[in-house]
Amino acid sequence: MARRKLVAGNWKMNGLAASAAVVDDLAAACPVPGCDVLICPPATLLARFAGGPFPVGGQDCHPEPAGAHTGDLAAEMLADAGASAVIVGHSERRADHGETEAERDAGLTLDRVGAQLEDSVPEDATAERLVVAYEPVWAIGTGRTPSISEIAQVHEFIRNRLSSRFGAETAGAIRLLYGGSVNPGNAEQIFSIGNVDGALVGGASLKAADFAAIIAAAD
Ligand code: PGA
Repeated sequence: MARRKLVAGNWKMNGLAASAAVVDDLAAACPVPGCDVLICPPATLLARFAGGPFPVGGQDCHPEPAGAHTGDLAAEMLADAGASAVIVGHSERRADHGETEAERDAGLTLDRVGAQLEDSVPEDATAERLVVAYEPVWAIGTGRTPSISEIAQVHEFIRNRLSSRFGAETAGAIRLLYGGSVNPGNAEQIFSIGNVDGALVGGASLKAADFAAIIAAAD
């Protein structure tokens, strides 16, 4: 099943009004991207970037639709500000639950990823509404990535798990992103892995030239 690649930029806690220039530079560098592109700026910039050259997404949302949760945002609020997607469960939002390097060294990666998938993907998930990103916490912002065969193994595992839960057709259409130190130098190789359907990019999404090179590699 052909899956269109998705390259999503997670700006984390970076960006001010002036950062609109980064989006403009990116649009100039890739006027007709050969993959889907999503920018997840801080929530303060969502409304400003919405309706621009790329769809925008939030970086997290509260599970409740409203209530006494100071500082949190509901999915509907993000949508109201123009977001068409939201990252949920990023390891930086739940520092205790990531896959640590010690667990990886102990061979526990698949156990950990399997449990996270089970706990986080809802029963009514569809390929149109769900994208899964595998991001080893030790690779985030460190410049270190797993080997190609390690990424391939985890992504195949995720695909198989989704398949046993949702059936081969739905699982075959769900996009699986890799995230953690993706940069212009390693993107092409990572995108060549069969079950890698794009990337969730942090640091390199803040520089238009680097992000554009990653988008080009997904083409
Ligand atoms: P990084 O971050 O690309 O800076 O490693 C990825 C992420 O945390 O989504």
